[in-house]
Amino acid sequence: MKIIMLGAPGAGKGTQAKQIAGKYSIPHISTGDIFRANIKNGTELGKKAKEYMDKGLLVPDELTCDLVVDRIGQDDCKNGFVLDGFPRTIPQAEALDKALDGLGEKMDYAIDVDVPDESIVKRMSGRRACLDCGATYHIVSIPPKQEGICDACGSKLVLRDDDKPETVQKRLDVYHEQTQPLIDYYKNQGILKSVDGTKPMEEVFSNIVEILG
Ligand code: AP5
Repeated sequence: MKIIMLGAPGAGKGTQAKQIAGKYSIPHISTGDIFRANIKNGTELGKKAKEYMDKGLLVPDELTCDLVVDRIGQDDCKNGFVLDGFPRTIPQAEALDKALDGLGEKMDYAIDVDVPDESIVKRMSGRRACLDCGATYHIVSIPPKQEGICDACGSKLVLRDDDKPETVQKRLDVYHEQTQPLIDYYKNQGILKSVDGTKPMEEVFSNIVEILG
């Protein structure tokens, strides 16, 4: 099963993608996590990506597409994968389609997690992230067992640099301008499904499972 998670920053794509990956035993591929791991490890890619991410802008397609195309060609993706945060532009979607075409495959579902902008800013200020294992929490709705510490790996939780309110607003503007057109792109392919992301996390997941079967 090959799935794309669509939705605004903070809509809950990552939260749902991790659960989907667990239930269907497929890899969770998050471009945001890949960039953050590169920033943490001080790689060249990380240095370049950080310049854009800190401003709430998208990392250029030329730094992003090859990375994902390589990743989905790996052995563990043979039975499918869930893409979280990619594609984010029409050229990225076209690059993905071209790569899959070359493998004689195509995407099965694009799931749009729909949350209005007003709820997003509130969610982001409360998010805490583990930069070691990629787990995310929310100080009110999904708190860790011990404040500031990741349940999964025991590392320190942080407020992401790009979760400051002014950067979140920029990310939302960029989303509406560059990423939202993908909703029509996948509607035209007949694979778009929408879920109400304002519902509690477990309910959103049940709705997704109903779609995926
Ligand atoms: P990325 O890491 O992909 O960030 P994003 O898309 O902005 O999405 P987020 O991770 O912020 O949110 P999410 O939708 O996954 O929500 P989450 O589940 O965490 O990308 C970061 C940056 O990297 C980009 O800005 C860009 O610069 C760059 N980048 C990445 N991919 C790129 C690409 N393809 N091309 C170019 N640049 C790229 O949930 C949010 C919060 O809400 C959490 O605290 C969570 O616990 C809580 N929550 C989740 N669900 C619920 C619920 N149902 N009810 C209440 N709270 C909930």
